[in-house]
Amino acid sequence: MARLPSLPRRLYGPSVWALYALGFVPAAYAFYLGTTGQLPGNPVKEFEQLLGIWALRFLVATLAITPLRDLLGVNWLRYRRALGLLAFYYVLMHFLTYMVLDQALNVTAIVADIIKRPFITIGMAALVMLVPLALTSNAWSIRRLGQRWTKLHRLAYVITAAGALHFAMSVKVVGPEQATYLALTALLLGWRVVRKPYLRRKRQAAQPTASVRTVSDAP
Ligand code: HEM
Repeated sequence: MARLPSLPRRLYGPSVWALYALGFVPAAYAFYLGTTGQLPGNPVKEFEQLLGIWALRFLVATLAITPLRDLLGVNWLRYRRALGLLAFYYVLMHFLTYMVLDQALNVTAIVADIIKRPFITIGMAALVMLVPLALTSNAWSIRRLGQRWTKLHRLAYVITAAGALHFAMSVKVVGPEQATYLALTALLLGWRVVRKPYLRRKRQAAQPTASVRTVSDAP
């Protein structure tokens, strides 16, 4: 399979920072449009929804890194942490917009809204689960936690599923956009189930060729 041209090693770090910078563009641009009266309809709702959808996009992108490497040989592992953290920052901004701009920190109104729209609780649960992942996304935590880190970060699957479900439940009728995120999430989680047997088979299929080559290449 033709491989994508790989980035020179010296650009690895700058490309990650470029991703962070690019990742904040949708939020910054929507904020600018909102504060200059250029967002249509209810600008707070528009802003809140934009942050929610980008949070979900970053969650899906984070989970797509592994299958991209397994199936297409594209190794973007170096961007996974940035994508996960961008998802966290967007969920946090989405949450703060809801609490401060939408509900004006009115506890009675928030409780009434949560009772009326149960999907908000699912979103909150996802945010709570994202916090330990964001806090342990550094190299020090990976070293300290070892295998426990891998187990903890499997929460990313639950969070993405919760995010997609929260989106689907936020509308009266599930449309193509919600269905797409549900399907993408199902595919990405499904990949984790079949991944191990797939990789084992791939390795086994590659082995005889490798040994033949070793023999024929021998001087
Ligand atoms: C992983 C976490 C979350 C994700 C991925 C997420 C994503 C989304 C998405 C995609 C939408 C619909 C946007 C649209 O209609 O275009 C939405 C709506 C909404 N979310 Fe979240 N959300 C999350 C967490 C939260 C949290 C923590 C809260 C607040 C407590 C929250 C409150 C809401 C509300 C109130 C709406 C409906 C806004 C409206 O009235 O239109 N979400 N969310």
